[in-house]
Amino acid sequence: MPTTQENPTTSPIGRRTPRVDGPLKVSGKAQYASDFHFPGMLYAVPVEATIASGRVIKLDTAAAEKMPGVRAIFHRENIGRIFRSVQGQGFEGIIDERRPPFEDDVVRYYGQYIALAVAETFESAKAAADAVRAIYAKDKYNVDTNLQPDDEPDVVATTFAPTPRVQSKRGNAESAFAKAPVKLDQTYVTPTETHNPIELQAATAIWDGSMLTIYEESQGVFNLRSVLAQMFGLPKEDVRVITRFVGSGFGSKLWPWTHCALAVAAARQLKKPVKLVISRKMMFQAVGHRPRTQQRVRLGATAAGKLVSLQHDYVNHQAILDNYHEDCGEATAFQYSVPNLRVAFGRARRNVGSPTAMRGPGAVPGLYATESAMNELADQLKIDPVRLRILNEPKIDESLGIPFSSRHLVECFELGAEKFGWSKRNREVGSMNRDGLILGWGMAGCAWLAARFPAEANVQLRDDGTARVASGTQDIGTGTYTILAQLTSQKTGVPLDKVEVVLGDTSLPEGPISGGSMVTGSMVPAVFAAADNAIASLLTIAATAPGSPFEKRKPDELKLEAGRVFVKADGPAGGVAFADLLRRANVRMVTGSGKSESTFGNPTPKFSTHSFGCHFVEVTWQPEIARLRVSRVVTVIDAGRILNPLAGRNQIEGAVVMGIGMALFEHTSYDPQNGAPINSNLADYVMAVNADVPPIDVHFVDFPDKEINELGARGIGEIGLAGVAPAITAAVHHATGVRVRELPVKIENLLG
Ligand code: MOS
Repeated sequence: MPTTQENPTTSPIGRRTPRVDGPLKVSGKAQYASDFHFPGMLYAVPVEATIASGRVIKLDTAAAEKMPGVRAIFHRENIGRIFRSVQGQGFEGIIDERRPPFEDDVVRYYGQYIALAVAETFESAKAAADAVRAIYAKDKYNVDTNLQPDDEPDVVATTFAPTPRVQSKRGNAESAFAKAPVKLDQTYVTPTETHNPIELQAATAIWDGSMLTIYEESQGVFNLRSVLAQMFGLPKEDVRVITRFVGSGFGSKLWPWTHCALAVAAARQLKKPVKLVISRKMMFQAVGHRPRTQQRVRLGATAAGKLVSLQHDYVNHQAILDNYHEDCGEATAFQYSVPNLRVAFGRARRNVGSPTAMRGPGAVPGLYATESAMNELADQLKIDPVRLRILNEPKIDESLGIPFSSRHLVECFELGAEKFGWSKRNREVGSMNRDGLILGWGMAGCAWLAARFPAEANVQLRDDGTARVASGTQDIGTGTYTILAQLTSQKTGVPLDKVEVVLGDTSLPEGPISGGSMVTGSMVPAVFAAADNAIASLLTIAATAPGSPFEKRKPDELKLEAGRVFVKADGPAGGVAFADLLRRANVRMVTGSGKSESTFGNPTPKFSTHSFGCHFVEVTWQPEIARLRVSRVVTVIDAGRILNPLAGRNQIEGAVVMGIGMALFEHTSYDPQNGAPINSNLADYVMAVNADVPPIDVHFVDFPDKEINELGARGIGEIGLAGVAPAITAAVHHATGVRVRELPVKIENLLG
């Protein structure tokens, strides 16, 4: 089987390529959203509600207004008009918390913004915000962690989610389950989790006449522009969003949040640039989180391990007004071959800020449940969990009745088992030891969607021998700058260090959101088409410019390779550097534009397009001191062709680290006494850090997926997180004999 190796040729595609933006980041020259300063700029700090439900009866702003340096305390009465945005076609007007800030006096979650202090310094603004007093009429609130689906007349549609409660159905799952010789019926719970990108969310707003410019760390600048244009009643052309660098997002920066509208509104009222950087505590309250999920999985199987029925019923919490859907059924309906299946969902309203997408939304908690159930079924049947999965490997996507474009999950299992040494596993609980430690081994599979979003780019070739590639997509730390440089270099022969990449600006051609692991797959056709068009212009100039060595040739007799133009029939020996041709023709640059069509949400696809993979995990357990460690991870990913094995491996390693955090540490707790996310800081919200992370052995099976683009590259940003937690809980069971079905695994779960 082909596996990813260093590309031996000079092609930049498939080569281990260090980040082209790395030097800017490590030298502090990369400008993040809060690094932009403007003359006369003011600082804004929001005032947070300290109740989870009720009304603001009175706001006492008098003391705050008199404080030194304070320019204004804004609230419902004086913020000016902020309209509601409406979702349109494609990436228009998408927002998870749709109520504009200060629209009414009702508080629906702890930390909702009720006022905004603006001052000459951040410190003055913070002091003023702290000095604002609110009197509330409190109502009962609900942050109950036991999720029973609300009995709403119909489950409301959300951005990308289905409306009917039954999301997927085939055969008769209930009766097949009733008749199944072997049954499993368990409920799995994942807690609220909070994205914790190190860069805090920030907005700097500048009005210049009717033109609004906003610096934000957005995962989708065009959608943010659309939302702000609607909220402030402007034509889109009058709004410009700039996002040069993002200190990671994990989904929390996909869609706009209310603090951004507040910065814009304050700048409008005061006619000054306004910067608003939210606090780490606010990062837990009003910019999304992965909602708590409760998932019942019922599996029916034959004694030989063939699935006959699969039922997956899940519920996630959502905010009081908004309808965020955590699509736990994302992978359920196609992952295994099973004739009878039913996936259904409900939602439960809670007094929490709106949940949002978090790395691998839906599939990550969903696969935790279904893969855990598969592991438990394997133990029940005394079948190896790898074998159980291979036994139920589907030939086609049974939910859509169409073939997969490229599915090599079995190869992933085989390679992973070999690299891990899985054949040495003794199934008996607590039976394996090393150096006085009990070993636990577990594994799980994973999947994540793959498609293309619409994307546009342009590529320039310039008379100094450099190239420029531009697209209004973003690099959220995943390597987009580098990939675009590689793609441009591949087509034009301009070396990587001479390719300028420009991203994150709505004045550029419209690029995709940095979401769904789809940027690379979407950008390949757009950048390639743009480069081809730029090259076509270049060759036309070469064939027509007076004095050009190729003056008598037709453009299609010429070729650009490795930065030189030559006559195809003569070969590269007689080639001329393209920069020389441009200079001789007195042309500074040629520019080509390119576009890629969306395949996302295609109602009649010919192929089912997904990435796949698996994780094999070892834990060590010391019962004497209740010490559990993850000691080894082998991960194998089938994500099509890997364009940059260095960045690719980095994405998967980072995701596995996050998976260790998901399995063992991460959870956001709401204080039953006031509804506040209570562990809202980086000390109390525990994540996996270096000391928790063993060597992670990452492998890619390198099967190009030509349905996605001509290079066969799918995305890799999210899939590495899916499947880690169920592999770890299986290893924990193997070591300790304890089944943990509610994440994270706590030491108290494992004590005698
Ligand atoms: Mo990802 S949750 O699509 O940023």
